[in-house]
Amino acid sequence: MCAMTVNSLETDVRAWGRRLAERLPDGGRHPAALAERRLMRTMIGDPRLRAALFRFVDVRPACRDRTDLVRHLHEYLAEAGAGSPAARRLGGLVGRRTLELPTASAAALGVAQMAHRFIAGEDAGAATAELGALWQRGRCVTLDLLGEATLTEAEGDAYATRCAQTLRELARMSAAWPAQPMLEHDGLGPLPRANLSVKVSALTPHLRAHAPERALGAARERLLALLRLARELDAHLHVDMESLDTRESITALVLELLADPEFADGPSAGIVLQGYLTDSEEELERLLGWLREHPRGAPFTIRLVKGAYWDHEVVMAAQHGWEAPVFTDRRSCDRQYEHLTRRLLDARAEGLPLRPAIASHNLRSLAHALAYGDRLGLPPEAVELQVLRGLGDDTAAAIAAAGRRVRVYCPVGDLVAGMAYLVRRLLENTSNDSFLAAQTTGAELELLLERP
Ligand code: 2OP
Repeated sequence: MCAMTVNSLETDVRAWGRRLAERLPDGGRHPAALAERRLMRTMIGDPRLRAALFRFVDVRPACRDRTDLVRHLHEYLAEAGAGSPAARRLGGLVGRRTLELPTASAAALGVAQMAHRFIAGEDAGAATAELGALWQRGRCVTLDLLGEATLTEAEGDAYATRCAQTLRELARMSAAWPAQPMLEHDGLGPLPRANLSVKVSALTPHLRAHAPERALGAARERLLALLRLARELDAHLHVDMESLDTRESITALVLELLADPEFADGPSAGIVLQGYLTDSEEELERLLGWLREHPRGAPFTIRLVKGAYWDHEVVMAAQHGWEAPVFTDRRSCDRQYEHLTRRLLDARAEGLPLRPAIASHNLRSLAHALAYGDRLGLPPEAVELQVLRGLGDDTAAAIAAAGRRVRVYCPVGDLVAGMAYLVRRLLENTSNDSFLAAQTTGAELELLLERP
């Protein structure tokens, strides 16, 4: 971009940033938010506690059962406890009496409240009222079923069955929702009301790199069945991205299935691009190239995220003596995110059947997407923003109040199934680089809106 374009885009980004900031509700007063902020502040300044929780999430897939899981959590917290009073306190609570997660005790640290904040309910049925209320208030949703890291084929089957039930449930409940033009149309066609995000690692126990072709067969069958059901129900199926060692398998599988003539006209489907990966631009070009070669009747959604497995990628790379595959400083990462946003919106403006979804809690990144979309002359409904339930509630309210489309990613499941998800939220939002951490500690709006 030339200097003049950069300057006037900057002016528009700031204007959008202020516009969103003015519409942020003052959500910080209720007790759950206060407890959560306390825990977040503790974690921001406590690398040992962060490390213990991180190790716990990392070992989780290898745990045989809940007892094993809790034993590990206890062990890591106990080790961290030498240098961290918070870890010692939490460790004292976890491990007491029955080796069950002591929900009541953990509540003392805000963990249970936090889980409620992030997790919409045990299942789609339990979240019905909330999903309807979000829609009523101008927010669409995508549902995510907690319970990743499938260890057996039977678990993979069970997850696929839950996905199918959830798709049906979503289609049924959303049929009764009132019309919301901004949430249901984007100039490329109707947007399904029912929207489910799936994790391929939960569909199969065999997803690591170099997984034999045979092993991926079960995942292919399960995803195929879900795509068929989504088409039948007119629902959207979104495939999440996870750690880098599974990206190739997931991408290849999704692109292969969607290229099949059977799915030429549906369902609406999409994938995730993780901006924190240093090769994310090549990955985007690959997806756009695929889209050019395989024009489908149903548009393809690319959800741009920063990425939720940063600690995992850094630790894995260090263990193997590899260079980290992720950006290690916030500014480069944010710059890349903005660059990818522009590439996505450019591609949409060029007429590709592409639905860009910009998922972030960084007000600057969101404002940048809105300003750039306006600059390209895209209609307001062409740019979708996304946030996570719990973390992005205030942001979602501001986006909806500004008359733009926002989709809220809502996980459902129980607390134990949600542990890995929960800890990813804690880690990413208590890292030194986090926008929300900066907001939590009271940084000035104009500083937060600065060009990365
Ligand atoms: C995660 O599960 C939101 O997909 C993202 O961390």
